[in-house]
Formats: sequence, structure tokens, C-alpha cells
Amino acid sequence: MMILNSLAIAIDVLHSAGIFRTKGIVDNLKSGTWTRYLEVGCGLGQDIRKLIQDGVPKTSVLGTDLLPGLLESGQELFQDAGALPLGQSLFAADFLDTSNDNVLSKASLDGTVDVIHATMFLHCFDRPTQLLACKRILTLLKSNPGVMIVGKQGGVAKGAGAREHPVKGPMGQVGGVVRTNFLHDVDSFKALWDEVGQATGTRWDVQVREEEVMDRGYLYFDEEEHRWLSFAITML
Ligand SMILES: C[S@@+](CC[C@H](N)C(=O)[O-])C[C@H]1O[C@@H](n2cnc3c(N)ncnc32)[C@H](O)[C@@H]1O
Repeated sequence: MMILNSLAIAIDVLHSAGIFRTKGIVDNLKSGTWTRYLEVGCGLGQDIRKLIQDGVPKTSVLGTDLLPGLLESGQELFQDAGALPLGQSLFAADFLDTSNDNVLSKASLDGTVDVIHATMFLHCFDRPTQLLACKRILTLLKSNPGVMIVGKQGGVAKGAGAREHPVKGPMGQVGGVVRTNFLHDVDSFKALWDEVGQATGTRWDVQVREEEVMDRGYLYFDEEEHRWLSFAITML
């Protein structure tokens, strides 16, 4: 049941990101205009399979997650370990570890990715760690205008006050580390990307939309002020 919920939510994620030209992303990947999609914190990798189902070549999609067990469970669930092998399409790695020993670093993907999908990912971290993760995202992306970062995450209503928040639920202790997350509102999320731009000498068009949906978010975040934030960030 948990897996089915996750699938339904993930498919919804891609659809909701659709307001921000997801169709354009799929078309770019199908036509070969873009050749590389990477999902960070992909978990089971259901969105990767959805792209393949929609016609994106298997060779254009990559995923990475901290937990090898999640990647393997995804392979088992979708019966496609042959099509999406570990170490080739799916990388078990700490995204925040930029050392050369890291499987992701060894894959030499820096500067090669056209679009990064980060759903339910950045909200796992406190703000300084989010900044690190965003900078890591930038090292993987090509430096062409038009490359994108898209996704969806938990946040708070505009004006409610972005805040540090203890991570509730099973994600609160991934890897044995007790975590807090920084929940953005629309404005603080844009401010994060202003800071990323200033720190890296890059410029970004940041589109963020908040949604109030009565779903599992309330298990993880404060009820009244919880919102989902969908975003599409394009290099200018
Ligand atoms: C809330 S889950 C979201 C999974 C997937 N994106 C989805 O929407 O179904 C967050 C994912 O981020 C992964 N994660 C957390 N910290 C990570 C890190 N430092 N490096 C890579 N992945 C990480 C977790 O293992 C988990 O699979």
C-alpha cells in the first residue's frame, strides 16, 4: 500500500510540475534536444519509470539516492534491473558528498545534465545544507541557458514564515542522523536561489507555486500552514 501511495503521489508530482512546462521537458528528452535527466533523491525511482513509459530513452534517465535499498526495491518493483543498472543508471550515493570516492562523482556527470528533478528532496535538509545541495546540483548541470531544476516539496504558506522544523516520520532519521528541515514559503525559496546565483555567478528564473492539498503532507508538516511548493528553475 505504501508503494502504491508513493507511486500515485509521484505521478501526481510530474503532473503538477506540468504547469511549468513538464511537457517541454519530456519532449526535449524524447527528441534528443536534451540527453540527460537526473533525479536526485529518487527513492524508488517511479518518476524515472514514468518518463521511460512516456517515451524518453532509458539511456537519458539517471537517478541517485542515499539508500541503495530503495534503488534496489525500485528495480524489484518494476522488474527492470537490466534496463536501469546500479552504477550505470542508478547511483547509491550521498548527494552532499563531493569527494572523488563517491559513486556519483566517479560517474563523471559534472556539467553534463540538462534537467534535474528534485522532488521531496531539498526539504529533507536544513537551510545551509539546502544551499550545499543546490550548489551540487549546479555542478552537475550544463552551464547552458535553459537547463532546468524542477520538483515539488513540503513548505509553508506564503507569509506564514519559513522555518526550521524537526523532520517528522521515517525520513527524520535517514542514515541514523536526526534531521531538521527548512520549510520554505514561496519568497524564501526564491531567496535561496538568489543566494545560489550570487554564490555561483549564475542567474535563474525561479517559478514557484504553492498548493494546499489535504494529503500525506499533514503527516509530516504542521497542519494549518503546510503547503506543497512546486518549482521550475531555469538558467538565464
Ligand atoms: C521524501 S523521499 C522522496 C523520494 C522521491 N523523490 C519521491 O518523491 O518519491 C527523500 C529521498 O531523499 C533521499 N535522500 C536523503 N538525503 C539524501 C542524500 N544526502 N543524498 C541522496 N539522497 C538523499 C532519501 O533516501 C529519500 O529517498
